[in-house]
Amino acid sequence: MKRKVLSAILSVAMVATMLVGCGNSASTTEAPAATEEAPAEEAAPADDAAATEEAAAPAGEGGLVGVAMPTKDLQRWNQDGSNMEAQLKEAGYEVDLQYASNDIQTQVSQIENMISNGCKLLVIASIDGDSLGTVLAQAKEAGIPVIAYDRLIMNSDAVSYYATFDNYKVGTVQGEYIRDQLDLDNADGPFNIELITGDPGDNNARFFFGGAMDVLQPYIDEGKLVVKSGQVSFEECATANWATEAAQSRFDAIIASNYSDGTTLDAVLASNDSTALGVANSLAANYTGEYPILTGQDCDIASVKNIIAGKQSMSIFKDTRDLATQVVKMVDAIMKGGEAPVNDTESYDNGTGIIPSYLCDPVFADVNNYKELLIDSGYYTEADLQ
Ligand code: BGC
Repeated sequence: MKRKVLSAILSVAMVATMLVGCGNSASTTEAPAATEEAPAEEAAPADDAAATEEAAAPAGEGGLVGVAMPTKDLQRWNQDGSNMEAQLKEAGYEVDLQYASNDIQTQVSQIENMISNGCKLLVIASIDGDSLGTVLAQAKEAGIPVIAYDRLIMNSDAVSYYATFDNYKVGTVQGEYIRDQLDLDNADGPFNIELITGDPGDNNARFFFGGAMDVLQPYIDEGKLVVKSGQVSFEECATANWATEAAQSRFDAIIASNYSDGTTLDAVLASNDSTALGVANSLAANYTGEYPILTGQDCDIASVKNIIAGKQSMSIFKDTRDLATQVVKMVDAIMKGGEAPVNDTESYDNGTGIIPSYLCDPVFADVNNYKELLIDSGYYTEADLQ
């Protein structure tokens, strides 16, 4: 949590990130629906992690790359998986893409299979960052490099690189949004706020929550923001598997105990869209006041619809095409025996040391810019959002 808080105002950051992005703008996929799980068609030998100069030839001659995704339940991972598969294939690699239904043991087995099927490199978005140590020791033993995708894999020295969005910045943008919307530096308040974040096994969740709380905590300390439920610690605000239903039931209880008597809820910090959706569902069922400010992340279709309908205030656009483009560059560099491009060598220590990382820029999204970000860029069609 030591990364510097952005000093630039939000709109400047937005414009900058829109211009700069993360990798080259992807030329390929458009956030299609999930592909079926794609087992490897042909196994390649697992003997050598570094490929030859001719590696990235067409038709899968670059070698087999295993891509392990956590679940199809959340929209973004379907997009991440599809984009990775399409872009790796375009770069000449064969792809073994697997989704693990948020089940840790399933993910471990899938990775074991990838190793025995001859994958030359593994790209892994973990379900629980702490549960892959044993299987990744096998990967290391076999000389297979590992790129942690979006979520850092903890306490394993088999992780070569990490590619993600700037998770701390996601949190600060959310916190700054609430600060600015409530005009906390000028208004008298006090304002009521509730907090919800993600899965405790996902290292990102602590960065999101930490980034936001670094902005909001001083206002809580001075009493300008009041958390009536009293639930302020990461553990109290966590949501197993980032599940919408769990978020909804926690908010049902919070609203029943604190806001059913007409007390105004002014803002909800939600770390992502699946939890924000649970909050919005709970508000629709239980809360009669004006909708509070509600943050999110991912620009999931359901949440963008809620933004258009005024039920969610903002989200963070993380263009999975750009993350895939960046990871494919990393894969290509490693497979050709080189070093992967990184832009951060200080923020992400997985318990065995700093993991060299590439951080893509997250982009603020709300009702005013969603069309430009999401439709004009081809991420969604108009019809997707109706
Ligand atoms: C990702 C978020 C996502 C969450 C739930 C996190 O690791 O960074 O984009 O909303 O997982 O899937």
